[in-house]
Amino acid sequence: MNFIDLPPLLSARGTVRLPGSKSISNRILLLAALAEGETEIRDLLESDDTAHMLAALVALGVAVEPLGDGAYRVRGAGGNFPVKQAELFLGNAGTAFRSLTAALALSAGEYTLSGAPRMHERPIADLVDALRAVGAEIDYLGKPGFPPLAIGRRRPPPLHAAGVVRVRGDVSSQFLSGLLLALPLTGVETTIEVLGDLVSRPYVQITLAMMRRFGVRVVQEGARHFVVPAASHYVAPGLIRVEGDASAASYFLALGAIGGGPLRVEGVGRQSVQGDVCFADALALMGARIEIGEDWIEASAPASGKLRGIALDGNDIPDAAMTLATTALFAAGPTTLSNIASWRVKETDRIEALATELRKLGATVETGADFVRVTPPPAGLRTPPEGIATYDDHRIAMCFSLAALGVPLRINDPGCVSKTFPEYFEYFAAVTQAVPVIAIDGPSASGKGTIAIRVAQALGWHYLDSGALYRLTALAAQRAGVAWGDEAGVAAVAASLDAEFGEDSIKLSGVEVGDAIRTEDISSGASQIAVMPAVRAALLFRQRVFRRAPGLVADGRDMASVVFPDAQTKVFLTASVEVRAQRRYKQLIEKGIAASIQPLLLDLRERDERDSRRSVAPLQQEADAHLLDATNLTIDQTAAQVLGWFRKIL
Ligand code: DC
Repeated sequence: MNFIDLPPLLSARGTVRLPGSKSISNRILLLAALAEGETEIRDLLESDDTAHMLAALVALGVAVEPLGDGAYRVRGAGGNFPVKQAELFLGNAGTAFRSLTAALALSAGEYTLSGAPRMHERPIADLVDALRAVGAEIDYLGKPGFPPLAIGRRRPPPLHAAGVVRVRGDVSSQFLSGLLLALPLTGVETTIEVLGDLVSRPYVQITLAMMRRFGVRVVQEGARHFVVPAASHYVAPGLIRVEGDASAASYFLALGAIGGGPLRVEGVGRQSVQGDVCFADALALMGARIEIGEDWIEASAPASGKLRGIALDGNDIPDAAMTLATTALFAAGPTTLSNIASWRVKETDRIEALATELRKLGATVETGADFVRVTPPPAGLRTPPEGIATYDDHRIAMCFSLAALGVPLRINDPGCVSKTFPEYFEYFAAVTQAVPVIAIDGPSASGKGTIAIRVAQALGWHYLDSGALYRLTALAAQRAGVAWGDEAGVAAVAASLDAEFGEDSIKLSGVEVGDAIRTEDISSGASQIAVMPAVRAALLFRQRVFRRAPGLVADGRDMASVVFPDAQTKVFLTASVEVRAQRRYKQLIEKGIAASIQPLLLDLRERDERDSRRSVAPLQQEADAHLLDATNLTIDQTAAQVLGWFRKIL
């Protein structure tokens, strides 16, 4: 599946137990590998980025034993990787790539480090220059300044007791973090001097805190100098737990702030070492109500109900600040995020990616080298029919999930969330409440349409006549000269169908269709094209977009099984074939169309037979659908029964 369709949401509330922090997980893994002694790690994040780090450590000869349920036992190599020659592939895991580059460059051995294509576009020269200055041998195997790298061609590396190492801090803090983690391997006192501004400063604090847990105290002198004392070496702390991921927390806190809440995340709180917990302060500035405990944070919507736009320097929380860019869609006034140039060298150019996708939702977006300003659309969000692109960037996918609090939304290639949060969308579904759907399926002439309209009127909900979409597609294909047998051609017509549904009105390309979709000819065309998988796929999202607050009643063949499998109430409406033939007869006569019972009866029998045998979306009752036999019921009685079932689940 290369997309996920998020239903529009009414609200968000509940509790989420966060997965382990990516930043902490990968730091702890490396420290445990470099330490003397055994470390038992609990609550390690299980994701692509940590899998790359684990695989690299195993390739370097470190003994790693999975204990199940996010727990691992790592036998530390005591500062000396057993395997002296290895080729490591690190995907797009920046934390793993930068820290291993530093650690391997300061070890004896010959290594190559490569990654995903995007990793080879992310700069690393600042780190390489700093490591070369202390005598490390590093060559660029591709474009100078970028991975892949060859490390330690000359052996043993003629490390200097450099005294001072200089590293630029204004592109990525991971260069400084990598150096800090690796320098204890040299055994000599080293001072790191940061050149230029240091971005993402709180991530360096995570590094220092984790180093302390493994017995190395870095002395910080002012904002730019870090002294790694002589004879530092890592010692396993025994047992260590990974905190919840504060960046991942941002999506849920934003959901609570927009969608009512209270939404609580567990695993981060007052005690957290992660700078991204300050995301909660940014939400509070927007008016959200925030509560913080030792190990949890909770967000609710403002008392006034409406968030307000803010201006924020995002430098300290570069990952979580992205979440504010989509939260801004629900705020009054513009939101400006500044000092975020580092976004341009992450998994993708995050400033451009966010701007492009936000505009698809109707927002006005201004961007610069290091800022983005988002003004929400005054008339509300719109659903982009092509879906939201995710740029192989987990955070883009997760950020845009918030927009489902406004409109139904397709997110393309959602699998990218596995970089840091493989089960994100399951967690998301568990704490969000979707706009309700009543799905009514059933055989031809069972009265689905009549009942669905009746129920929709009673509840004041929207109504989807899915059959009309198939009929419109058949009509549009005919008008465009596309043969009904041409699956790809008809699917293209379906995908670009310019249809507009109003009360008692259906328009095709702006023109009222009236009874043109009810002729025998078009009925036959609709049933021909309805068996084509490409046509059904092209109409799928179009049908889902009808789901709007306060609710939707949808009628048609596969409403309960395929289009709205999460429908709150599912009804399979049927009646004896004789009664259905009579009802259809009456309907036709009322419309002034000549008809007689016998052929109608024959036709319905044939259709039932065909419909239940067809391989694509066959007519069948879903296991969780109510069976409603309306043979002896009036329209009022039938509608009352459907409403009764719906009200029972409220
Ligand atoms: O319900 P109707 O007669 O207006 O439907 C027109 C055609 O489309 C009919 O052949 C059944 C088919 N259809 C379908 O396959 N799936 C739906 N959800 C709705 C209708």
